[in-house]
Amino acid sequence: MEIDAFDLLVARAKANAAGDRGILLTGLRGVGKTVLLNVFSDIARRHGWLVVQFEAQPGDEEGRAARKKLARELQLGARRLRPTPAWSHLREQGLGSISNLSVSLGLQGLTADLKFAPGRADSSDLDIDLEELVEDICSSMRKARAGFALVIDEMQDLDEGLLGALLAVQHTAGQRGWPFFIIGAGLPSLPGRLSESRSYAERLFHYRQIGRLEHSAASDALTLPIARLGGILGGDALDTVLKAAGGYAYFLQAYGRTLWETASDREITVGDARLAVELGTADLDQGFFVARWQRATRAERAYLRAMSQDGDGPTATANLIGRLKKDHSSLTSQRARLIDKGIIFAPEHGQVQFTVPGMGSFISRQKDE
Ligand SMILES: Nc1ncnc2c1ncn2[C@@H]1O[C@H](COP(=O)(O)OP(=O)(O)OP(=O)(O)O)[C@@H](O)[C@H]1O
Ligand SMILES: [Mg+2]
Repeated sequence: MEIDAFDLLVARAKANAAGDRGILLTGLRGVGKTVLLNVFSDIARRHGWLVVQFEAQPGDEEGRAARKKLARELQLGARRLRPTPAWSHLREQGLGSISNLSVSLGLQGLTADLKFAPGRADSSDLDIDLEELVEDICSSMRKARAGFALVIDEMQDLDEGLLGALLAVQHTAGQRGWPFFIIGAGLPSLPGRLSESRSYAERLFHYRQIGRLEHSAASDALTLPIARLGGILGGDALDTVLKAAGGYAYFLQAYGRTLWETASDREITVGDARLAVELGTADLDQGFFVARWQRATRAERAYLRAMSQDGDGPTATANLIGRLKKDHSSLTSQRARLIDKGIIFAPEHGQVQFTVPGMGSFISRQKDE
């Protein structure tokens, strides 16, 4: 479904249709956002697009790391572009603005063999430089009836400066009909973050929430790999695992692994499936969940435990005051630290929620300290 939406974008760029929007995937941890972004990138590259992909990282407030990655990936992306008319055009024209922008993003040294085009993307004003760069690249990509995709994972972690500049250039691109698209993925708090940065952000993207896989997709994710290895999984055995995974990609992956280990024969039995779920849950408890749990201090764990009363949430922060018998300001700083650690996020003002599905029930399985 998400892939269809992206195919449509590529087809419309080919037809030079104007005024398209970028795509933003939002969802909790482990639902398959990164996998989808990679699929999008592959499709775009196959259609001759310039694809520049990078991941933002938490704690990069000044955005130095993000700028370096962007500059580097721009250079590599341009080099990897398939040899098309767009490629020769870009080599003649656009590479100048890529190398100039790289310099203003803080990356030097890789640019020695690239042609220098003075006056393009070299003002050191990020907004202006980005816009010129995107304009130059788009005019080249048009020659191949292709586009320019900037693929950004963990987009909620972008610093405000770069985020605002990127939204502004996506806005301009939409107005001028440039085939430039930001394809982003992030936590469910991302749309709110974007609207805070630029009030028009909402209109720049098609938002897609990624959550549980549908029954048939979840079933395929388990049965197809097993069938390829010559096994059979069906009936109650399949249902047992599907129910435990609740449609979450990461859990399907974990149970799929243990299913293969517990299979006693070619045809997987309900008994095998139950054991696989037990072992898979233990793996998740010892890996996926515990990694987050151990990052929290004692006081933060108490906070998380108070949240877990609401299962997977969300939890109103006002309710935590009573549950924890703490004052507002100490809870606010715990909340901020837990958000920095990537364990919780704020789906809406005054609410907190775990970033991973099933964290609430994991916590209730842990003994009180
Ligand atoms: N459609 C799918 N069917 C089965 N497994 C999938 C599917 N999509 C993703 N997975 C698996 O689920 C796991 C999580 O996927 P992915 O890393 O893309 O999630 P994510 O949403 O990017 O998570 P995070 O927010 O932690 O980065 C991976 O191991 C991946 O291989
Ligand atoms: Mg991811």
